[in-house]
Amino acid sequence: MPKRAKIAVIGGGNVGASCALWAAVKELGDVVVVDIPDAEDRVKGKLLDLAQCGPIERFDANVSATSDYKDISGADVVVITAGIPRKPGMSRDDLVATNVKIVRSVSENIAKHAPEAIVIVVSNPLDAMVYTAWKATGFPTQRIVGQAGCLDVARYRTFIAMELGVSVEDISALLLGGHGDDMVPLPRYTSVHGVPVSQLLSQDKITACVDRAKVGGGEIVKLMGTSAYYAPALGVIDMVEAIIKDKKRILPCAAYCEREYAVGEAGKGYFVGVPVLLGATGVEKIIEIDLNADEKKLMDASTEHVKGLVEVVCKAFPELA
Ligand code: NAI
Ligand code: 2OP
Repeated sequence: MPKRAKIAVIGGGNVGASCALWAAVKELGDVVVVDIPDAEDRVKGKLLDLAQCGPIERFDANVSATSDYKDISGADVVVITAGIPRKPGMSRDDLVATNVKIVRSVSENIAKHAPEAIVIVVSNPLDAMVYTAWKATGFPTQRIVGQAGCLDVARYRTFIAMELGVSVEDISALLLGGHGDDMVPLPRYTSVHGVPVSQLLSQDKITACVDRAKVGGGEIVKLMGTSAYYAPALGVIDMVEAIIKDKKRILPCAAYCEREYAVGEAGKGYFVGVPVLLGATGVEKIIEIDLNADEKKLMDASTEHVKGLVEVVCKAFPELA
């Protein structure tokens, strides 16, 4: 009898609780959410509420909350959402000093209690936090991956669908780069059920969708006073499902690149958003696509931004260099 998968979510705030909800509703496995002792009761309450959705939505999943890392033992996938989100007027980069300490200590606990897990990082600034988790766990790069592209490309697809008045299901798109306002949506690789988007929308309208997607996180922070969580959590769930069901999905994720996309060099790579093949062993392949000169310039600029953030992390915490 195949056993149920186990998914651990670190941080039971907006994103973490939404990940737990969708993992349970989709019956991806049993879910344990870890938070700090001060938040334990709040998270236990949320998870009890979630467990009581089971009879209504008809799903079977054991869901629980804890502040004890021993409870993540045997997890197949661990999702890190611990950390502070941004407030209006803040950029993701403003979170680095606080979140690097949180992500580092969380990662050390993961390495100790779930040494075989595949880790999906969500905390911001994303690309630098994936790097931090990699260094602090010591896991192979195949088992460390960041969620940003699934969200960012969903935003871009939403805006294209809204502009065209067609189903979001029919919009297929690709996006590269870091999880910052310089991310790189790729109109040349965007189609509407196979029809290149350039045949259906004017260049101005495509550019407007690209620009809105790039600042899509900030648009929501301005409205809500905190950052988004429904779509970010579903981006995570797409990745969790690909891993647990060994679906071999091709998804845009923050993955370790050396020579790929000219991100780094042998032995000195960075985590940036690229299309990857995601399956049971984690990042099974990085998919390299042709970029024209303009796209390459945008990708290089986004990569430089990621490198700058990693430098900030390594300067403050030389042991992570
Ligand atoms: P939140 O404030 O609602 O939840 C954060 C949770 O982390 C809280 O429950 C807090 O108690 C917990 N936490 C803090 N320190 C911890 C520790 N040492 N161990 C365990 N838990 C700890 O924040 P929200 O909205 O859930 O966002 C979480 C993070 O995800 C933020 O850094 C945010 O910027 C990021 N984010 C990333 C996205 C992406 O696409 N990569 C999208 C949305 C948010
Ligand atoms: C977002 O893009 C803040 O990273 C978060 O919504």
